[in-house]
This record gives sequence, C-alpha cells and structure tokens, in this order.
Amino acid sequence: MTVDADEDEARAAQRAHWAGRAAAWNRTADEGVNQADPYNARLMDAAGVKAGQTVVDLASGAGEPALTMAGRVGARGIVFATDLVPEMLGGARRRATQARLANVRYVIADMHDLPYRDGSFDALTCRFGFMFPDDSQAAASAARRVLKPGCRAAFLVWGPLEENVLFDVTRRATRRFLGLDPDETPGKRHRFAEAGGVVEVLRAAGFAEVTETDLVDDNETPADTRFWRARLERSYAKEMAALTAEARQRLEASVVEALEPYRDGALYRLRTFARLCVGTA
Ligand SMILES: C[S@@+](CC[C@H](N)C(=O)[O-])C[C@H]1O[C@@H](n2cnc3c(N)ncnc32)[C@H](O)[C@@H]1O
Repeated sequence: MTVDADEDEARAAQRAHWAGRAAAWNRTADEGVNQADPYNARLMDAAGVKAGQTVVDLASGAGEPALTMAGRVGARGIVFATDLVPEMLGGARRRATQARLANVRYVIADMHDLPYRDGSFDALTCRFGFMFPDDSQAAASAARRVLKPGCRAAFLVWGPLEENVLFDVTRRATRRFLGLDPDETPGKRHRFAEAGGVVEVLRAAGFAEVTETDLVDDNETPADTRFWRARLERSYAKEMAALTAEARQRLEASVVEALEPYRDGALYRLRTFARLCVGTA
C-alpha cells in the first residue's frame, strides 16, 4: 500500500468514527450541563472575536463555539462552522435554526486542508478538535494560512485524563463493564496532555506570540441530575446502543458508584483541565 493509500484509509476511518457518534452528539447537545460551554468566552476572547468580523471555527461538531460566536459577531458578521463530517454539522444546523441564527455557514472541511483562500478570516477558533488530525503540523499551517496577518487562532485541548474527572470516571466504569482494560492508554483526545505540545506545533507552523494557559476548574454539579449520561452516549454511542435496558441500568449504577468519592453532600466536585493555546498569524 502506498503512503497516500494509508493516509486515505486513516482519514476514511476518522470520518466513519465521527459520523457514527454524530447522532449521540446531536441528541445531547442541548443538555444544560455541558462541561465545555463555559470555555467559549475564554476561547473567543483569546482569538479576539468582535462584532462585525468574519470568523471560522474548526471541528465545530454539534455547533460550539460556532453558534455562541454568531451572537458575538452579530448581524454584520459571519461565522463559518466547519467539520470533517456532515453528520456532526447536522446538530449545529438544527440548533442554529432553533436559535434563529442567520449568520452561520456550514462547511465540510478537513483541518489538514482548509478550503479557503489565504487571509480569509479575522479570527479562528477550535474547541477540542486539534487533537484529532493525524498531521497536526499540516493542520496548524492551514490555520495560519487562512487568517489575515496579525489575527489570532485559539485552540482548546484537553489536559491529562486523570485531571478530567468525568472523562476518567466514565471511561473506567464503562471499560470495566465491557470487560476492557480500564488502564489502557487513552486515545487521541489526550494527545496534548503534556504541556508545550501545541505551542511547539504552532511555532513550527509560523505562528508568532504563541502562548499556552492551563485552565483548571473544580466544577460543582448537582448530584441528583444524570448529567454524565451525555458523556457515556457521546463516547460509547455504539456500545450503549447494543445494551439491553437492564444492562444499561447496571452500567449507570456503576458510574454513580464511581462518582461517589467526588460527592460533597448534594454536589459533585469534578475537576476539568484544559489548555488554551493561542498564536498570531
Ligand atoms: C470532540 S468533538 C468537538 C466538537 C465541538 N467543537 C465541541 O467542542 O463540542 C471533535 C470534532 O472534531 C471533528 N474532527 C475530527 N477530525 C477532524 C479533522 N481532521 N478536520 C476537521 N474536523 C475534525 C469531529 O468530526 C468532531 O466533530
């Protein structure tokens, strides 16, 4: 097999992976307790998003932060919500229609090779997507190329798995339940768990004034809501769909048990750890 054929196969596998998860993401996108939404303001501020701008969001998934940005750029601005697979953007479209947002465009775009001219955008954001392209250097170069000189790109990536308690707890409980090794090395989602990884890639792509900030939050969440269901559905869509109602109940009970050490009365206190990385084109 040639290198190109290997690459095509890897990208096709990525597309199938995300297309298979899209229904669960769409279904859970509106749930009140979304652990990622509080990051939107920090991401937009870091990228310098303002009213009237033309901005692009990479790997928008079911629509964030693209739809929140549509509010900030306002009627004179425009947001391009992009993703590898149309199935994911289906959720973004549905939510934008419900919110009557008219200034969002939806574009299928692989981060490796963005379908825009040089210098098209005033700002670029990417929330929890930069871990997934196989060639992060190509993705960073494409991001820099489509920005106007002097404008900023802001990327959010997850820190270490064990510092992201909800991911860690649900992953361990589910893997144990499915008879898989709970200690197996996590996949791409935590690829930039080590400090400095994204900074190095952004500098090599020619970004200037590159910074990295750790965002560590101990989030308080009411213990009587089943907020963690969205996490199970998104990460284990295929496995969850195959469970009987009784098996599902047993899995859910094991998640509740695994969350017990993080409970303080009526609240869970669950740490999240993300890295905010910014560069100027
Ligand atoms: C964890 S989701 C994040 C979605 C959204 N930004 C959020 O924070 O809710 C990752 C997204 O990256 C997309 N993705 C994966 N590889 C990609 C690539 N090479 N180019 C563009 N998008 C990609 C997936 O389809 C998926 O929607």
